[in-house]
Amino acid sequence: MAQVKFHITNNDEYREAYAHSVAQPEDFWNHIAGHYNWRKPWSKTLEWNFEEPRVRWFEGGKLNITENCLDRHLEQRGNKIALIWEPNDPKEMSLRFTYRELHAHVNRMANILKNLGVKKGDRVCIYLPMIPELAFAVLACARIGAIHSVVFAGFSANSVADRINDSACEFVITSDGLNRGAKQIPVKSVVDEALETCPSVQKVLVVNRLNWPINMKTGRDVWYHNELMHANEQCAAEEMDSEDELFILYTSGSTGKPKGVVHTCGGYMVYAGYTFANVFQYRESDIFWCTADIGWVTGHSYILYGPLLNGATTMMFEGVPTFPDPGRFWQVIDKHNVNIFYTAPTAIRSLMASGVDHVLAYSLHSLRILGSVGEPINEEAWHWYHTHVGKGRCPVVDTWWQTETGGIMISALAGISELKPAHAGLPLPGIQAILVDAEGKEIIGNDVEGYLCIKYPWPSILRTTYGDHERCRINYFATYKNLYFTGDGARREANGMYRIIGRVDDVINVSGHRFGTAEIENAINQNKKVVESAVVGYPHDIKGQGIYAYVILADMQQANNHTRDEIIESVVEHIGRIAKPDVIQFVSGLPKTRSGKIMRRILRKVAEGEFSSLGDTTTLLDPLVVDEIIAGKQN
Ligand code: PRX
Repeated sequence: MAQVKFHITNNDEYREAYAHSVAQPEDFWNHIAGHYNWRKPWSKTLEWNFEEPRVRWFEGGKLNITENCLDRHLEQRGNKIALIWEPNDPKEMSLRFTYRELHAHVNRMANILKNLGVKKGDRVCIYLPMIPELAFAVLACARIGAIHSVVFAGFSANSVADRINDSACEFVITSDGLNRGAKQIPVKSVVDEALETCPSVQKVLVVNRLNWPINMKTGRDVWYHNELMHANEQCAAEEMDSEDELFILYTSGSTGKPKGVVHTCGGYMVYAGYTFANVFQYRESDIFWCTADIGWVTGHSYILYGPLLNGATTMMFEGVPTFPDPGRFWQVIDKHNVNIFYTAPTAIRSLMASGVDHVLAYSLHSLRILGSVGEPINEEAWHWYHTHVGKGRCPVVDTWWQTETGGIMISALAGISELKPAHAGLPLPGIQAILVDAEGKEIIGNDVEGYLCIKYPWPSILRTTYGDHERCRINYFATYKNLYFTGDGARREANGMYRIIGRVDDVINVSGHRFGTAEIENAINQNKKVVESAVVGYPHDIKGQGIYAYVILADMQQANNHTRDEIIESVVEHIGRIAKPDVIQFVSGLPKTRSGKIMRRILRKVAEGEFSSLGDTTTLLDPLVVDEIIAGKQN
């Protein structure tokens, strides 16, 4: 077999790499992992079974991921820009940090954390807006071996508290407030409220972003800028085992509260760096911009770790696509000469709706490659992106992956693979994707549809869900024997390319954000007027999926807009603004089977406005409920 190369440069090399990765996975990953700096090499490449599940990569290997992200580049790229920060308000100055400067900032933050008492293995909750200190904080945790748990700064106090308590975080890093478009939003007060129910938290480090007067609790809260004055810029990296935990990231599943997906140091590093280099066909002088928030996995892997592992210049943006106007993304691309741009279909669709003139006002000549992530991209949005943003010359890579997978799994390689609008394409080397039927039997051949599973581990597969390994087993490994189940349905077309259809479980994807229907129902049910609710997703022009809630009230006389607003407020309070229902329909009953199970299939159809194909309703306890729901929807 041919030598394994880290960088794939043409289709033949992709095919060779893929074949090698399937025939000799361990040999393949040994070569790829050898591209990084390890303090001590691993003794065993892979140990696994999907029953428990137990997956261990590069066992015995010692490393620190920040040495690979930072120290390793100092000699050759010390003066190269590592991080560009673009503020919310275009009138404020953008900031640039060289690798040397970023290294110093991370070390200072690491020393501050150590002074506060943070040790290897401690969990640190990071609840920060998209400011440079968020990048410093994540990397500082990794530097000293603390496990970061970044919580998106749009989540409510309840959500923050749940996440802090689930992993018993001892430390929180936050800010006074944040900028979002024309608004300024409090952050520290959300943390203060959350911490009323978080006994594990000892210290809170607060970054000053807005100069807001905030409460600082004596003995618990400390200002970052005060600590900075006596923080040394040298901090030796902690030696980590390949399988030591690197981070926890909470994500929604079909049942229960969000679960803490756990990624470990070695495998995650190997896979994040490899996929960044190859999917985006990264070149040394490229400016890379991923518009995600670091609060989601996309930001972890492709704003921070993936680019920095490759010595790239990565950008983080504090703002929103529509402030001060819907040309903001394109203005930023021209301003910083961005070469690779990675965003979500929701952003594309919403900018599409604002009209093409906002795009045409900018040159966008620097762009070479475009990417899409987080949800299926419809063909119309794909073509708009390709034609107006990419001027027909930039390949669009539609990258399918998940929080649990750590890195991109199915995607074209930019400029190398065949592109087909709305198709993620072929699996990356090392990813043994298959489709199965409802019984878990593999569906062979092409031009078929089924449940998307992966039958062999890749280095950044989740290791567990924090504190509850059984939940990890049940969620991902128990549906089909010896397979990792993604929760997605997909088609495999004639040429082997995958088209992702969407979730087949009770997870809905709103603007690329995942919510469990049960989680939203639980928030709705907190309202005292509510007896029961059922939430489903429905197609939404901009968000991909909208949230449709059927709600039964104790007193149906109160079925009015005031109650609607109260229900929305419950959701905002228990989850956050991002989970607000788009439609609330009051109903007197829900379609249930005789065993009491809600027939969501019917609710989905009604929400979609498809009344003619409801299927068999005779098994329902009360089939008349369906007529009532349809009549209510039509009114
Ligand atoms: O349904 C798939 C969808 O997003 C889910 C994963 O969500 P999350 O863990 O939040 O990660 C999002 C960013 C990686 C998947 O199960 N999804 C993600 N990317 C795509 C996608 N659906 C279609 N096409 C994609 N490119």
